[in-house]
Amino acid sequence: MRLIAFACLLTLTASVDAAQPPARIALSAARLIAPDQGKAIEHPMVLIDGERIREVRSGGAVPDGYTHVDLGGATLLPGLIDCHVHLTSDPTLSSGNYYEDVLKRSAIDDAVIAHVFARRTLDAGFTTVRNLGAGAYVDVALRNAIDAGRIEGPRIVAATLGIGSTGGHADDTTGFSPDIEFHGASGVANGVEGVRERVRENVKRGADVIKFMASAGVLSAEESVGAPQYSQEEMNALVEEAHRWGRKVAAHAHGAEAIRMAIEAGVDSVEHSSLIDDAGLKLAKQRGTYLVFDVYNDDYILAEYARLGFPASMTEKEKKVGRLQRESFRRAVQAGEKLAFGTDAGVYPHGWNGKQFAKMVEWGMTPMQAIQAATTNAADLLGRADRVGAVKAGYYADLVAVEGDPLKDVTALERVGFVMKGGAVVKDELRKP
Ligand code: ARG
Repeated sequence: MRLIAFACLLTLTASVDAAQPPARIALSAARLIAPDQGKAIEHPMVLIDGERIREVRSGGAVPDGYTHVDLGGATLLPGLIDCHVHLTSDPTLSSGNYYEDVLKRSAIDDAVIAHVFARRTLDAGFTTVRNLGAGAYVDVALRNAIDAGRIEGPRIVAATLGIGSTGGHADDTTGFSPDIEFHGASGVANGVEGVRERVRENVKRGADVIKFMASAGVLSAEESVGAPQYSQEEMNALVEEAHRWGRKVAAHAHGAEAIRMAIEAGVDSVEHSSLIDDAGLKLAKQRGTYLVFDVYNDDYILAEYARLGFPASMTEKEKKVGRLQRESFRRAVQAGEKLAFGTDAGVYPHGWNGKQFAKMVEWGMTPMQAIQAATTNAADLLGRADRVGAVKAGYYADLVAVEGDPLKDVTALERVGFVMKGGAVVKDELRKP
């Protein structure tokens, strides 16, 4: 009986909601950068119905039934997309002692603070992110809480646990006494069967994308910074399994050989891509593989990581890849590779994501190309090019605005003053009364 009454109540509230017209906003500004068309539109008026864009006009009066939000001389862009973040970590969490943090911080500590970093990311204009590795499935919980409207943050494409070999970049106890063992979920997996099983487990726990470590890394204990850490057979099996389950694959890889192996295996993106050689560039182009270069990172690591108490062995490894990565990036731009914007924020502070645009322009991109990397291309890499990354009818009303014109001064993107996600204004510092 009670159950029936409850069901009636539900039907009633549902019909009341359905009867309410969606919020309608007419958003105007001086210009709109349309990266999908490679041009700017003057005097745009974007009509928004609820969480979606209805129409994009140039000039004209505000139609009846729409609330006018005028951003004056500002420039509108699609909400930005960062294809490589870690919302569960941030250098500001550091105690100043690397080993103390490894021993004392838990996934629960990460979980209670991650929403703060999600909000900072959104406030910086990033309305969609791909979170490439988090402990204890915290990224899935964060994604779900944001999607349910319980907390504010970007749309999250979650990888869950980064998969890596024993002793590799994802293995936290490398270099520790063998008496020390970490509990909890781990992405360490070996062998063709082992990596297949790990992919399935990640999918079971909510992964939207699969991340694995094709090579050694900087901020981990291995000697090498770029050597392959899986066999070709393991990489092939991992990618095949992920694709069978409809999940794209992102491979962390610094070294040239590991990059080529990952591309051969069929990954959808190579992360870092630091030491990619000409054969790797050629292969990436043939296979349509996206390359993601976190070219801002080096500045922050070299300036701050000694003070943050990271072992010298790690900062020494950074010196081996930082500059070369930027040179590789320049070659990749010249070669016309598919490039998507990804920062590895979490290694440097969340909310600073936009600082990478200026680096990308310094190392060979036009401002439009850098913006396309963070919109058109990023949306394509995420498999969401029908929903995000453009200001077009039917797309989510994810928009940002900045003072000035980022096509003239790309650093304007470091100062996002207006953010709308799914039709809701979440940052509002540019509106004209
Ligand atoms: N997470 C990466 C690693 O530990 C960071 C690399 C940063 N360095 C760079 N030059 N992008 O390998």
